[in-house]
Amino acid sequence: MTRVAVIGAGPSGTAVLRAFQSAAKKKTKIPEIVCFEKQSDWGGLWNYTWRTGLDEHGEPVHGSMYRYLWSNGPKECLEFADYTFEEHFGKAIPSYPPRAVLWDYIKGRVEKAKVRKWVRFSTPVRMVEWDKKKKKFNVTVHDRVKDKMYTEQFDNVIVANGHFSTPQVPEFDGIKTFNGRVMHAHDFRDALEFKDKDVLIVGRSYSAEDIGSQCWKYGARSVTATYRTKPMGFKWPKGFEERPLLQKLVGKTAYFKDGSTKDVDAIILCTGYQHHFPFLSEELRLKTTNRMWPADLYKGVIWEDNPKLSYMGMQDQFYTFNMFDAQAWYVRDVILGRIKLPKKDAMTKNSKAWRKRELTLETPEHAIWFQGDYVKELIAATDYPNFDIEATNKTFMDWEHDKAADIMGYRNKAYRSLMTGNVAPVHHTPWLEAMDDSLETFLKVK
Ligand SMILES: Cc1cc2nc3c(=O)[nH]c(=O)nc-3n(C[C@H](O)[C@H](O)[C@H](O)COP(=O)(O)OP(=O)(O)OC[C@H]3O[C@@H](n4cnc5c(N)ncnc54)[C@H](O)[C@@H]3O)c2cc1C
Ligand SMILES: NC(=O)c1ccc[n+]([C@@H]2O[C@H](COP(=O)([O-])OP(=O)(O)OC[C@H]3O[C@@H](n4cnc5c(N)ncnc54)[C@H](OP(=O)(O)O)[C@@H]3O)[C@@H](O)[C@H]2O)c1
Repeated sequence: MTRVAVIGAGPSGTAVLRAFQSAAKKKTKIPEIVCFEKQSDWGGLWNYTWRTGLDEHGEPVHGSMYRYLWSNGPKECLEFADYTFEEHFGKAIPSYPPRAVLWDYIKGRVEKAKVRKWVRFSTPVRMVEWDKKKKKFNVTVHDRVKDKMYTEQFDNVIVANGHFSTPQVPEFDGIKTFNGRVMHAHDFRDALEFKDKDVLIVGRSYSAEDIGSQCWKYGARSVTATYRTKPMGFKWPKGFEERPLLQKLVGKTAYFKDGSTKDVDAIILCTGYQHHFPFLSEELRLKTTNRMWPADLYKGVIWEDNPKLSYMGMQDQFYTFNMFDAQAWYVRDVILGRIKLPKKDAMTKNSKAWRKRELTLETPEHAIWFQGDYVKELIAATDYPNFDIEATNKTFMDWEHDKAADIMGYRNKAYRSLMTGNVAPVHHTPWLEAMDDSLETFLKVK
C-alpha cells in the first residue's frame, strides 16, 4: 500500500488530512496517511503555548502566537469552502475572531472528519532522506513520550511544518549591554508585561503592527516602531510613533537614523522568520525567504527535483486556510494519480512564469490578486468546492482600506461570507475595549 507522510498538523497539515478523508468518503481508495506532529495537539500556531525557548521535551517551541491575538484579516477571507463558520458555530459570528475561536474552527473540521487517528503527536520528524534505489523516503522520527526514535519508509512526503517559528534576529550596536528586556516576536506572549513601559518595536510588517498595537492597547507608556525600508504609515494614536532605523543603543537610549533618540525599557524584534527544515536532507530542502512565490515548487507545492515531495503553505500569506486547502486537494490529486505532472523542464518553466509575475508586484493589492489567481488555478484542477475568489479579493481590498482608515478600529467591521452569503454580525465590544479574548466572551450575545 502507498504510504504518505505529512510533517505537521497545523492548518496546512490538517488540510491534507481532510483532503484525503474527503476522497475516501467519495469511495476513492486512498493511501495510508501518517501525520507526524511535534506538539501534543493539532492546530499549529493556533494551538497557543505559554512556553518560550524549549518545550516540555527540550524541542524548540513552535508557537509564535500570543495572548489577546485576534485575526488580523477578516475571517471571510480564510473560511473553508467545505466547512463554514456557520456550520461550526451554529450561527454567524463577527469577522475578526480571537485566536481561540479560530483554533476551535480549525479543529472542528478535522474532528468531524475523524482523522485524529492518523496523527502521531509529540513526534518531531528528525530526518527525511530519499532512497534512490527503492524510490522511497526514509523518515526518522522521535516519539518523545516513549523516548523512542524509529525510521519508516514512505512513498510520498508532504512538508507542512510552517515557516513562522524560527526567528530571524538581527543584531544592533549596543544591544548586548542594553539595560532592559530584549526579545523576538516569536517569544512575545503577554502585552501586559509592557504596561507603563516605553517599548521599541523593530520592523514594519504584520508582527510589528500588531504587537505594537497590543502593547499600546494594554497600557504601554509609549510605542516607537523603527523601520528599515519605509514606515507602516498608519494614523497611529497618541503615544505611538514611527522612526527610521535604529542605529545603536547606549544604555537605555536608542539612536535612530534621523539623529533622534528615545529612552526605552524594552525592545521587541519583529524582524520576521526563517524557512527552516533541519529535518530535510540537502537535495530536498527548500531555500527561500518569505515571499509570494518561492522558487523550485511547481504550482507552489510540488518539489520540482523530486515530485514525490511536496511543500504546503510556504508562500507569504494573504490567503491562508482556504489556500492551504487548495494546495492540499492539488497535492492529494497528484498522489492519487488524478493529476499528471509534466516533465521537470515544463514544471520549472511554469513556476518561473509565476516568479516573473511576482517580481512585478508593487503593492499589497497586487499581491492579493496574484495569490487569488494562484488559488483559483489550483481549485480549478480539483473537486475542492469552488468559491468566489474575485469577491474574496475584494474583501481583502476592503480590509486594506479599512485598516488604512483606522488601524485601531478596523477589527470592528463586518463582512459578507463568500460561502453562505450572510453578513457577519458586528461584535458586541469594540476591539480596543475588548480585553478578554476568550471564546466564551467572543461568542456571547450582549
Ligand atoms: C503571530 C502570527 C499570527 C498570525 N495570525 C494570522 C491570522 O490572523 N490569520 C491568518 O490567516 N494567518 C495568521 N498567521 C499565519 C499562519 O502562518 C497561518 O494561519 C497558519 O498557522 C499556517 O499553517 P501551517 O500549518 O502552514 O503552519 P503552522 O501553523 O506553523 O503549523 C505547523 C505545524 O508543524 C509542526 N512541526 C514543525 N516542525 C515539525 C517537525 N520537525 N516534526 C513534526 N511536526 C513539526 C508544528 O508543531 C505545527 O503544529 C499568523 C502567523 C503568526 C506567526
Ligand atoms: N493575527 C495577527 O494579528 C498577526 C500578528 C503578527 C503576525 N501575523 C502574521 O505573521 C506572519 C509573519 O509576519 P512578520 O511581521 O513576523 O514577518 P514578515 O512579514 O516577514 O516581516 C518581517 C519584517 O522584519 C523587518 N526586518 C527584517 N530584518 C530587519 C532588520 N535587520 N532591520 C530592520 N527590520 C528588519 C522587515 O523589514 P522590511 O519590510 O523593511 O524589509 C519586515 O518588516 C504574517 O503572515 C502575518 O500575517 C499575524
